Amino acid sequence: MTNKSEIKSFHIDSKGKYFWHGSCSFLLRIYPPNNYQLEGHPIMTSANTVQAERKTQKDTPIWDHTLKIDPLISRPSISIFGLGYVGAVSAACFADCRHKIIGVDPDTAKVNLINQGRSPIVEPGLGELLKSGVVQKRIQATTDADNATLNSDISFICVGTPSAEDGSCDLKYLEMVSRDIGRVLQSKSDYHLVVFRSTVPPGTTRKIMLPILEEQSGKKCGADFGLCFHPEFLRESTAIEDFHTPPKTVIGCFDKASGEYLAGLYHGIDETPILTTIEAAEMVKYVDNTWHAVKVSFANEIGKICHANDVDSHEVMDIFVQDTKLNISSYYMKPGFAFGGSCLPKDVRGINHLAEKSGVDTPLLKNILASNQSQIEHALSLVEKCGEGPIGFLGVTFKADTDDLRESPVLPLIAGLLEKGREVSIYDPNLNLEASVRHHLQHSKHADDSVGRLMQHLPDLVRENIADVFSESSIIVVSHKSMLFREAIIARRDDQHVVDLIRLFDGNSIIDQIFEAGMNDYLQKPAGKQQLLKKISYWTGDLECAHTLVVDDDPSIRMVTKARLEKAGHQVSEAENGEEAIHRMKEDDFDIVFMDVSMPVMDGFDATKEARRIPGHKRGTPIVALSAHAVPEESTTYDGICW
Ligand SMILES: NC(=O)c1ccc[n+]([C@@H]2O[C@H](COP(=O)([O-])OP(=O)(O)OC[C@H]3O[C@@H](n4cnc5c(N)ncnc54)[C@H](O)[C@@H]3O)[C@@H](O)[C@H]2O)c1
Repeated sequence: MTNKSEIKSFHIDSKGKYFWHGSCSFLLRIYPPNNYQLEGHPIMTSANTVQAERKTQKDTPIWDHTLKIDPLISRPSISIFGLGYVGAVSAACFADCRHKIIGVDPDTAKVNLINQGRSPIVEPGLGELLKSGVVQKRIQATTDADNATLNSDISFICVGTPSAEDGSCDLKYLEMVSRDIGRVLQSKSDYHLVVFRSTVPPGTTRKIMLPILEEQSGKKCGADFGLCFHPEFLRESTAIEDFHTPPKTVIGCFDKASGEYLAGLYHGIDETPILTTIEAAEMVKYVDNTWHAVKVSFANEIGKICHANDVDSHEVMDIFVQDTKLNISSYYMKPGFAFGGSCLPKDVRGINHLAEKSGVDTPLLKNILASNQSQIEHALSLVEKCGEGPIGFLGVTFKADTDDLRESPVLPLIAGLLEKGREVSIYDPNLNLEASVRHHLQHSKHADDSVGRLMQHLPDLVRENIADVFSESSIIVVSHKSMLFREAIIARRDDQHVVDLIRLFDGNSIIDQIFEAGMNDYLQKPAGKQQLLKKISYWTGDLECAHTLVVDDDPSIRMVTKARLEKAGHQVSEAENGEEAIHRMKEDDFDIVFMDVSMPVMDGFDATKEARRIPGHKRGTPIVALSAHAVPEESTTYDGICW
């Protein structure tokens, strides 16, 4: 009778716990709801019972217990606020996945149409799905927000966020719904997950909607209710097909519990949703749409130039997209410093000249060089922000591993600083002063006068030795990635500021390995207290008493880390090598794991890869690398940063 299914070990608290068995989800609740934790390996015994060990939180008596699961709440029910393009499609598709849906909209015409199983919008296949949902009693629509919130587990908010007069995003409908939901949460004892889907600028959910929800409900996000921002990527006209094969599923979560709960809805649709911060999820929607708009405008401007010159634009673009190494790829897509070199600036000028000569207007292409120039000006302001004192440049050629100085964007940056009376020294191991300068001068027709003046003095600024640049400078500007520069920066004096234009420490082999192994974050050990607490609260949200595993072969590191974690309210277990960590992770579900990367018995990279393969193991459990390498704390969090 026992079906030892993939049900994994888990903790359960007063909110209950959703889990998946086969293709069904279940809600497991313990009554009375407080004071109990469920641990161990629950075993599915029938469609609606689970056998498990239960223990009190205070002491440790453990006994077998069979818990009943209410089959009526086998899938979370969803209230959907806003029955427009996004809301109506979500309602129909989630109902099709056997969720109970309550749609809410003040527009009675839309509510009536949906209750009749008719689509309020034109969208292929939507009418049929809505009809089937209504017939099977899985969809109902209402104008009553209170009832919908009370009778659902999750609320999706899909109301409009139209452009205001000044181009900003009008949040009034979102604020209204947040107030409605918050008010109801005040009297709702069950855990509720609030999911914003409307497109908003980053910061809106946490800084505006969350305070409204907490104020209206008198409850605490994370502890009493969950919060996600979950952007919508469906295209109108193919929305239903896109729902089943989404380009990606992005879940910005307030805490891990909210993210995992929402990710559960996509079981069978997308097994690898991207869990991220709320702000990144908000931003990515803007970035996606802006990118799509740039693509269309770029193609159209190219089309106009082609047409004016009797070239078949479709043939050109068909060839263009076949290059998936440099054109349609992630290459050139990481924000950093300005472009330069012998080709890009020259050819952008060339195509703009061609457009002008052909009499076609290409505003996007016309502004590329202006955009590049503003990147140089931005770097200049970053350097100035670091204060007074001599400035040392690491790298001056147009990119790393080349001696080519032609149109290097570092030159106008240095020139700008010299014009402001700043002292500059330069180290670049690839620079061949005589040849590079001569070559540059042959291609410097478009250079600013200040760059011309700089070129005359360049030999005086260049140092043979990197150590000379460090000893002369109070500000170091790094524009090339190199191991030598990394090591020099790590060993710099405490009073030296760094302006990192290229995220020098990304692509650091240790960091690469950390992320490649599936670790989520890293911490230099022994970590500064602030850094550790920041990581803890980022990964656990406001979770009280998180269950945390510290893995390190060095007992003193375990001791220090454990003490700090316990002080932050964690319940800490320890393991002294990767193998023991895997053993512990098979037995227990941890909320977060701190794992040394270099241990004699199974290092942290292998242990993480192994942990990610544990059947039924929480796929999202954050594993934070403890590394002895000196990694500047914020080095991977900004582009063009000062530290
Ligand atoms: N249309 C798309 O393809 C698409 C795709 C991705 C994201 N988005 C974003 O999703 C959001 C919704 O877009 P849409 O196109 O579905 O908008 P829409 O205008 O079609 O629908 C919004 C609905 O919200 C309803 N509404 C207003 N106030 C409400 C309230 N207090 N309670 C409940 N309902 C309320 C309106 O009556 C309307 O039916 C926007 O932020 C949009 O930018 C849209």
